[in-house]
Amino acid sequence: MTAASAATATAGVRAEATIKPRQMRFDMSQLRTKYFFRDNPILSTLMYALSASFPDGERFFIDTVRHYQKDIDDPVLLAQIRGFIGQEAHHSRIHEDFNAQAASLGMAMEKVQRRFKRRIETAKRNLDPGRQLAITAALEHITATLAQWTLENPEAGVGGESHSPLREMLVWHAMEEIEHKAVAFDVYRAAVNKEKQRIVVAKIIFRTFWVQMAIAQLMLLWHDRKIPSLRHIREAWNFMWGKGGFRSWSAPEFKRYLKPGFHPDDINQSHLIEQWQDTYPEVAALQVG
Ligand SMILES: [Fe+2]
Ligand SMILES: [Fe+2]
Repeated sequence: MTAASAATATAGVRAEATIKPRQMRFDMSQLRTKYFFRDNPILSTLMYALSASFPDGERFFIDTVRHYQKDIDDPVLLAQIRGFIGQEAHHSRIHEDFNAQAASLGMAMEKVQRRFKRRIETAKRNLDPGRQLAITAALEHITATLAQWTLENPEAGVGGESHSPLREMLVWHAMEEIEHKAVAFDVYRAAVNKEKQRIVVAKIIFRTFWVQMAIAQLMLLWHDRKIPSLRHIREAWNFMWGKGGFRSWSAPEFKRYLKPGFHPDDINQSHLIEQWQDTYPEVAALQVG
């Protein structure tokens, strides 16, 4: 399949899908305690680490897609690129607000963000645009997989955090991640289309992503001189590796991405977008535009 026909084919699949940035208003002042997530420092710092990675990470996603925008002539994909850029730019801003609130509570967010930023700058300096876009496509698969788990497991993922703006933010972010999950992938197919490279890059990203999160968590805990208890460790282990835990559930989802010919739309998650306003009316109510 040529790059052009691949672009048309994938755009054809998603011709109905519109990607619409939603303006949201979250009250970050509701985040009042450092270890807000189940009172567990490991799980709370995991949320902080993810959030710290988003502002610069999502700007990187935008840059890598924008680089190839001029090479795309399919009008559907071009419209989706605009929607993708709008959504990711808004995610970056909202997570910056959340990170600032976390920093005001004493979490070393700036330190962790600086580390992520340095890693991104190194990738930009040393990798060609095709590999950078392959990184974005792989990370978009991670976020879409995380998003599906979050929305399908409201009690495990975000259920107990009723006093945290993170709950509302995660629901909205997760839904939009699913909505635009194939955009970077389709641009890669249309403009780069090196399947072996996509898979090799993804293997590296899938292996290193959680290591990077763990390093950020250790930095946050170290700065706060906080030592998790055995209960915290057990709970965090179950959250990730227990029955239905994120890492146990998601292992086959990551393997699927590594198969030649995979496309993000092979995983049907559309029901999660169609139903989100009914499932989470209190989050939908925070939409201001
Ligand atoms: Fe995002
Ligand atoms: Fe995304």
